Amino acid sequence: MEIRIFENANELALAAADIFATQIKKNPASVLGLATGASPVPTYNRLIEMYKAGEISFADIRTFNLDEYCDLPKDDKNSYYTFMHENLFNAVDIKEENVHILDGNAEDAEKEAADFDAAIVAAGGIDIQLLGIGNNGHIGFNEPADEFTTGTFKVKLTDSTLQANSRYFDENPMPHYALTMGVGSIMAAKKIVLIATGPAKAQAIHDTVKGEVTAQVPASILQNHADCVLLLDKAAASLL
Ligand code: PGA
Repeated sequence: MEIRIFENANELALAAADIFATQIKKNPASVLGLATGASPVPTYNRLIEMYKAGEISFADIRTFNLDEYCDLPKDDKNSYYTFMHENLFNAVDIKEENVHILDGNAEDAEKEAADFDAAIVAAGGIDIQLLGIGNNGHIGFNEPADEFTTGTFKVKLTDSTLQANSRYFDENPMPHYALTMGVGSIMAAKKIVLIATGPAKAQAIHDTVKGEVTAQVPASILQNHADCVLLLDKAAASLL
């Protein structure tokens, strides 16, 4: 794992956006794995700036998002479908048919998950996967568990995740289930960029980098990835 530490979240976002822009320029039809949450928002803002400046185009870019809540209307303000459109897609020239977000309301969740993994393979695999990390070390919604997960699946969210995200839910109650890429799906990405900011992530980052590889800290598996970079601010890196 390569580790890069930045003064603040803004500097970090510039570096993260740079990695993605370099990939987009190298291959304008790249396959990007994208993430939601507070961490990637400054990175998406920077990518939008670069698009508006004519530096990059998303016209042929294909995207796959890590996860989506179950039992939440697609256009709910807290769905990840809404998040991605509000924070990136609506502001750039991406084609809707090239956007892949899991349908958390699919009647057959297993089929939805299998179709999603098959679509990633059919697209040629993910060139770069963006990741945040949960306070409990989760990646996507792969929560601490006894075994690493493999492909995309339906997961019951843990209390830690419910607590971390419930602040966003003031109308509909927070869903207790989600569909998520599995750890195996994430590890199949050719390159992985994990971003973490703030003191609440410090322990999870410590355990990810310095701890043993264990499914109790799902992000620790990234130690085994051949091309993974961690972009951290000073607070998130404070226990390293
Ligand atoms: P956050 O979420 O960026 O909102 O902190 C990250 C995550 O839970 O994966």
